[in-house]
Amino acid sequence: MRAPHVFIETFGCQMNEYDTELVRSILKDKGYRFTDLADMADIVLLNTCAIRENAHNKVYGHLGALKPLKEDKGLVIGVLGCMAQNLKKDLMESESLIDVLAGPDSYRSLPELLEKAVAGRKGMAVDLSEYETYADITPDRVEGVTAWIAVMRGCDNFCTFCVVPYTRGRERSRDFDGVLREAEALAASGCRQVTLLGQNVNSYRDGVRDFADLLLAVADIQGIERVRFTSPHPKDFPDKLLEAVATHPRICKHIHLPLQAGNDRILRLMDRTYTRAEYRALVARIRTRCPEIVLTTDIIAGFCSETDAEFAETEDLVRQVEYHSAYIFKYSERKNTIAARKYADDVPDAVKAARVTRLVELQRAISLKKNREMIGKTVAVLVEGEGKRSPDQWMGRTDGNLVTVFPKGGSAPVKPGSLASVRVTDASATTLYGQLA
Ligand code: 5AD
Ligand code: SF4
Repeated sequence: MRAPHVFIETFGCQMNEYDTELVRSILKDKGYRFTDLADMADIVLLNTCAIRENAHNKVYGHLGALKPLKEDKGLVIGVLGCMAQNLKKDLMESESLIDVLAGPDSYRSLPELLEKAVAGRKGMAVDLSEYETYADITPDRVEGVTAWIAVMRGCDNFCTFCVVPYTRGRERSRDFDGVLREAEALAASGCRQVTLLGQNVNSYRDGVRDFADLLLAVADIQGIERVRFTSPHPKDFPDKLLEAVATHPRICKHIHLPLQAGNDRILRLMDRTYTRAEYRALVARIRTRCPEIVLTTDIIAGFCSETDAEFAETEDLVRQVEYHSAYIFKYSERKNTIAARKYADDVPDAVKAARVTRLVELQRAISLKKNREMIGKTVAVLVEGEGKRSPDQWMGRTDGNLVTVFPKGGSAPVKPGSLASVRVTDASATTLYGQLA
């Protein structure tokens, strides 16, 4: 009999991309094959995200598009990830297209669930675990220059807007040596950059060692050129971690430091546990210790009861900090969160949208200015592959994570994985352009 073919599509964050690699590994082990074409598949899995409503809507759109395939040839459809966890029984109603639901801690049950589903029985596994880290599973990665390693899973912060503590459960860390062995294997397979992932990486603990210890140990592995991490929480950014970033040549000088809001009342309502002044002091401490640092952030506009004046304080902080780039989101009420239970989602949608537009425009101008300051400098670019626009160009990133594009050619041999020395000649708000130096 032909082995069942699986098509898997991933929505959302890097953690979900990583989980898809885990799922591929679990299923390949049981004899499943993978295809890049939904039309060729016997099973379609959607690895979903629940962080904002538009992520949700996208998944519903994709499910609708799969209906004809399901009706024609009995396609098995599985929903994985955060949406599966959050919606549970809603998705299992009788007319539902979905056969299998598996939350982020239940991927080990997938082979069994899929086997049953192929035989016509729907099933779900959505319980959260205090222990599951998939530490013994080697993700099935596309071999390349960069890779992710999830070092901790879940989040205990319960920011009031955020669904992650409900969909991904309690914080738990992977064992220290397991992470090192995975990074060593990656280096041996030709990977040059590792990004350590966690919803809240500076909560990493193995009982004795903390996140800075782990970061330093990974950065010391032979063959790894660069180590990145995402995301830390601004409430605790220890000096030890800052020292590691500032001093280790292979730890990238980039910190993603989610701000969320620049007004103290809103920060309190969000339960972020820092004030505007504390956040600014942290930025100052980081910049004093490591002046070349690239800072990026996440911001939510239009959180419950946010006034124009309070939003203006966020804009003001963005102007003062001058992030290199920022992800800016409209507040989107999520079921089960503390904000959904305690506060009214009362900022009109048009006001939220206008605030997002203002911030995006402000940030774009800052990004352009900061990128243009790079013109004339020579930067080390880790080449990831060909440029999107032209096969005659290489694309890579600087240590600070700035996307850089430059023409192929020149005397030095360059290939994916090379660290190329590039002189920046031009810049847009999102990209540096240059020539091999
Ligand atoms: N609405 C809008 N944005 C959100 N984020 C998390 N939850 C919500 C929500 N309910 C944003 C935060 C977080 C990023 C990953 O997503 O800015 O840092
Ligand atoms: Fe969500 Fe806050 Fe945890 Fe980040 S730190 S995953 S925003 S609850």
